[in-house]
Amino acid sequence: MNNIEKRKQRHIRISLEENVKTDIGTGFDDVTLVHRCLPEIDFSEVNMDISLFGKHLKAPLIISAITGGTSYSKEINKTLAAVAEKMGIGIGVGSQRIAIDKPEVAHTFRVVREVAPSTLVLGNIGCPQISLGWGVEEAQICVDMIKADALSVHMNPLQEAIQVCGDTNYKGVIDKIKNITENLNVPVVMKETGAGIAHEEAEKLEAIGVAGLEISGVGGTSWAAVEHHIAREIEDSDMEFLGKALWNWGIPTAISVAETSLNTNLQIIASGGMRTGLDMAKAIALGADAVGMALPFLAEAVKGEKDLLEFIRKIVLEFRTVMFLVGARNIEELKKVPAVITGRTAEWLKFRGFDPEDFSFR
Ligand SMILES: Cc1cc2nc3c(=O)[nH]c(=O)nc-3n(C[C@H](O)[C@H](O)[C@H](O)COP(=O)(O)O)c2cc1C
Repeated sequence: MNNIEKRKQRHIRISLEENVKTDIGTGFDDVTLVHRCLPEIDFSEVNMDISLFGKHLKAPLIISAITGGTSYSKEINKTLAAVAEKMGIGIGVGSQRIAIDKPEVAHTFRVVREVAPSTLVLGNIGCPQISLGWGVEEAQICVDMIKADALSVHMNPLQEAIQVCGDTNYKGVIDKIKNITENLNVPVVMKETGAGIAHEEAEKLEAIGVAGLEISGVGGTSWAAVEHHIAREIEDSDMEFLGKALWNWGIPTAISVAETSLNTNLQIIASGGMRTGLDMAKAIALGADAVGMALPFLAEAVKGEKDLLEFIRKIVLEFRTVMFLVGARNIEELKKVPAVITGRTAEWLKFRGFDPEDFSFR
């Protein structure tokens, strides 16, 4: 196993065995959807279908980027992909960097498209590699490897800053992404990994031709926490300290979704601490087009396909029930239901120049 393979393996073990959750929430606890005692719809007519990056999904849900590159991660990808295909939801693969460096492990990613031939599949490459010189050629290899419908480009400055020997040069990366959006044959989705996206960056990304954002805000898996545990194991006291100090760094998911959806027309996948069908409905009412989850799906996938299927089926059932209770027949109607925003989330939005009441009076 090379260093990247060892690191990938470690990420999975630490995420599953250690506390890697932020101490602050997503902000969705501050969001309440208005109950309709007379929803005036029939539960059986609630339609959760969406179209995202050219693919039809039966529910606005995506398995966020997790893994690939080792035989263990191939098994996990196989399970995730099988369930994604059965449920008609989307799936992202983990960073494909390892398969560009070492093409003989490409099959650990390719398995996703083999097992999920028809659903939405997202490729994955990182800003640090783009910053170090990778461009359209490598991005296209990632897309072709899994016949991806879109390519996620992950932004992880927090993780790299805390990672021992992380790649921390983010200079000039926007121009390099522009080149990729102009020349790649599929849409580009810019994806955070747990610290959220502010509207200022979202606007810049929209201007250079990016098609969508995956928010991955604060409230779920903390990459500062993951790197803290790794640093402790390998006895790097500076990084151990930094990971603890910046454990909760970033923008909570609900705030990030609201900011970016209000100020851009990008397709938005809400992720980072999304855990329930109710969270899904709230995120869509705040402007998201779909929702992504990573760690909860990984935890079920390692138990087996049946457990993961059952878990996702219940989340989707909860989501559908909330749609019924707010009287939304479809996702377009859910986007327009009133959402009351209070507490820290409302305060934050006000200080960022938005009016939280725009969501409640509509
Ligand atoms: C074990 C593990 C590995 C991950 N690897 C990647 C990756 O390679 N690329 C990426 O963009 N995000 C990666 N992520 C981040 C997730 O896609 C997601 O953005 C983040 O975990 C927040 O979602 P959650 O709170 O539902 O876990 C990984 C997450 C986990 C738990």
